[in-house]
Amino acid sequence: MTALTQPRASVIVRGSIDEAARVGAALIAALVRERPDAVLGLATGSSPLPLYRALRGVDLARARGFALDEYAGIDHAHPESYHSVIRRDVVEPLGMDPGRVRVPDSAGADAYDDAIAAAGGVDLQILGIGANGHIGFNEPGSGLDTRTRVVALTERTRQDNRRFFGGDVDLVPTHAVTQGLATILSARSILLIAAGRAKADAVAAAIEGPVTSECPASSLQRHPAVTYLLDAEAASGLRGA
Ligand code: F6R
Repeated sequence: MTALTQPRASVIVRGSIDEAARVGAALIAALVRERPDAVLGLATGSSPLPLYRALRGVDLARARGFALDEYAGIDHAHPESYHSVIRRDVVEPLGMDPGRVRVPDSAGADAYDDAIAAAGGVDLQILGIGANGHIGFNEPGSGLDTRTRVVALTERTRQDNRRFFGGDVDLVPTHAVTQGLATILSARSILLIAAGRAKADAVAAAIEGPVTSECPASSLQRHPAVTYLLDAEAASGLRGA
């Protein structure tokens, strides 16, 4: 990948992530007011939780959703499967229709991009970022042309996620199915939310570093409509901060 300047990124920094999340929730509320059946790309993990909390009370009954990723080889009924997490953290508290929300499955990876396209594409993709710069589970080395596929998780990501599995890294799946970078970049708009010092280097590399497959989030510099929602700590590595 070669460097390009970022066309229209908007970097929103607030003292707390809850304040930043409220800005994001207002953008989503405006989208669904205009298009009640808007297609949302849904991230899991800790980062988007303040955004999902800030969305309570917004009418998402007709909105559609496509989750970003899912562990491979995990029972959908496992409490930490992203099927369970999306139902628990997003669909139920936000009153979404479970029939309108899809989560990928390793067996159906190839058909996932087609399903997104058949829905008219994602209007707004919500993202977190890994400490190693991953988005979705596109780990360093992922190409810009990647589509939904099964990938191996890095040791760093498995260590970062062991907190969801009782602290035991051996219980963290070794593989996942993830939307690819090309899938993510095909969304019409993107909201990336990040909080805390542990994300500062990845955020700085994503926004101000070169576009390189070593930092998959730097590929967002190629997208025309990305909004970063950051707390002061996550923004602390930015030269412009
Ligand atoms: C989750 C996902 C991941 C996370 C990232 C950050 O669906 O795709 O890219 O966004 O690993 O995780 P948290 O937010 O738990 O720090």
